[in-house]
Amino acid sequence: MSSIIDQAQDFGQNLLPYLTKWYTIVFLILITYIPLYNLKNAYSAWRLGCQNPPKFRQAGFTGVFGLIEAVKKKNAGRLADWGDEQFQYYPHHSMYLNVVGLLKIVFTVDPENIKAVLATQFNDFSLGTRHAHLAPLLGDGIFTLDGNGWKDSRAMLRPQFAREQIAHVKSLEPHLQIVAKHIRSNNFKTFDLQELFFRFTVDTATEFLFGESVHSLYDDKLGISPPNDIPGRENFAEAFNKSQNYLASRAYMQMFYFFINPKEFRDCNKKVQHLAQYFVNKALNFTPEELEEKSKDGYVFLYELVKQTRNPQVLQDQLLNIMVAGRDTTAGLLSFTMFELSRNPEVWQKLRQEIIENFGEGENAKVESITFETLKKCEYLKAVLNETLRLYPSVPVNFRTATRDTTLPRGGGPDGTKPIYVPKGSTVAYSVYVTHRLEEYYGKDSREFKPERWENIKRLGWAYLPFNGGPRICLGQQFALTEASYVVARLAQMFPTLESQDDVYPPKKCVHLTMNLDEGVFVKMK
Ligand code: HEM
Ligand SMILES: *[C@@H]1O[C@H](CO)[C@@H](O)[C@H](O)[C@H]1NC(C)=O
Ligand SMILES: *[C@@H]1O[C@H](CO)[C@@H](O)[C@H](O)[C@H]1NC(C)=O
Repeated sequence: MSSIIDQAQDFGQNLLPYLTKWYTIVFLILITYIPLYNLKNAYSAWRLGCQNPPKFRQAGFTGVFGLIEAVKKKNAGRLADWGDEQFQYYPHHSMYLNVVGLLKIVFTVDPENIKAVLATQFNDFSLGTRHAHLAPLLGDGIFTLDGNGWKDSRAMLRPQFAREQIAHVKSLEPHLQIVAKHIRSNNFKTFDLQELFFRFTVDTATEFLFGESVHSLYDDKLGISPPNDIPGRENFAEAFNKSQNYLASRAYMQMFYFFINPKEFRDCNKKVQHLAQYFVNKALNFTPEELEEKSKDGYVFLYELVKQTRNPQVLQDQLLNIMVAGRDTTAGLLSFTMFELSRNPEVWQKLRQEIIENFGEGENAKVESITFETLKKCEYLKAVLNETLRLYPSVPVNFRTATRDTTLPRGGGPDGTKPIYVPKGSTVAYSVYVTHRLEEYYGKDSREFKPERWENIKRLGWAYLPFNGGPRICLGQQFALTEASYVVARLAQMFPTLESQDDVYPPKKCVHLTMNLDEGVFVKMK
């Protein structure tokens, strides 16, 4: 008898030191906190008439397996299509997982729920940790801020997007000529168009934003030297690329983003920011008369912004924010468009016909007649771009964080008609990539590339959302569509023959902050 008491005393004494250790305290708090937190949420959900959607099948007990699976698919270039496959199992278009009982993540592809997050319940959601993920490169700007900081940014930048379109088209032609030189230099051998588009968009974006291009398209292969010499010009495109890849990795790490902050990342950020600073200082040193004079040559975003603020940090941050928002997205659109056109010769020929009827071809191309207004009249070209953005939206998956306890209008319960409870701090992830492929909106052939379908589409509302919706809708929509239309039209005029050399379909896609083709767009052109 006494030996049992002794043993119990020993046990108690051995336990005591552990009870005062930090990990034990954390453990005890967690095993009491997690059930209480979940009980409270269950009660709130019940009071509001909410029910959960189905649980993610591959989540596993802790929810961690689901995330690991997602990372695996991402690395294989199959994340977006895997998401599409997974949602076949959830006919009411929403599901959820609960990471170790602490973080609820609701995944939805239901247009009604997306509309709630982005528009009707806009104030219930924020960007969450995006600022922390992206700040080392982007600082405080329209793309990283919430609340009043975002409102002020948007109010300052928005007017700039109304006026720029007309001048913009003219500034594209010189860069396009260099793209054409590259294409011809391949002599109808296989080459990667996507790489050229990435360089093209960095060149046009720097010219439009800063007033001068970094001319990354000029390289040793062409053997012509660039028309200017800006300090840091040569490695800008590469540094910008690398920085963005790190930013995307940080975003994928969610709350563990601070693990990713290597020297290479910091160095690349410095290079990119130095170049922006160079232009900002230059613009701030212009006299008002010089600025007026410069503005006459064509629209430069920086010169217009300088009339609104003279704070160099604000100028630098906003310019880089727009660069990140606008550059890869447009390169992606161009790449996917040419990828599909090269696989669909009848679409390419029909498109060429429309372009040639309007603007001529080859030697007889009427380049000056290609403007913002005349491009808008090319219905088939618009349908081709619509269809490309449907199948390959540049931002395939996106997230918002709940700023307070709230709900999503539907997807909960066995028949998907109940609202879903979303506690403060949880994540709502939505994928327009999947929404854009739902058969109930697009028909049985929803996964096929068919620009003709746009002749019959009347109203899609929130089921078609390549540029987002609500108060944070993309500011650059017209800008991007004009640039892409111009490039596709000019290529159609110059190169009658376009042949795909890719054999994997659906193509592997790499999803960073935005989506592009995993390895490139391999074609032959003449
Ligand atoms: C094919 C091209 C493009 C696509 C598909 C696209 C798509 C998007 C999407 C989905 C968002 C919302 C991101 C979010 O709120 O999480 C966005 C925001 C934004 N985009 Fe675009 N974009 C494109 C091109 C451009 C271009 C060329 C520019 C500028 C020159 C631009 C400027 C912006 C800005 C400033 C925002 C932030 C708006 C805000 O938060 O208030 N975009 N874009
Ligand atoms: C930038 O990255 C894209 C895709 O990640 C790649 O296709 C392109 O070649 C890169 N460009 C440069 C200049 O490194
Ligand atoms: C392209 O999509 C937009 C947005 O849904 C639509 O308003 C427009 O009519 C479409 N254009 C064509 C030519 O299909």
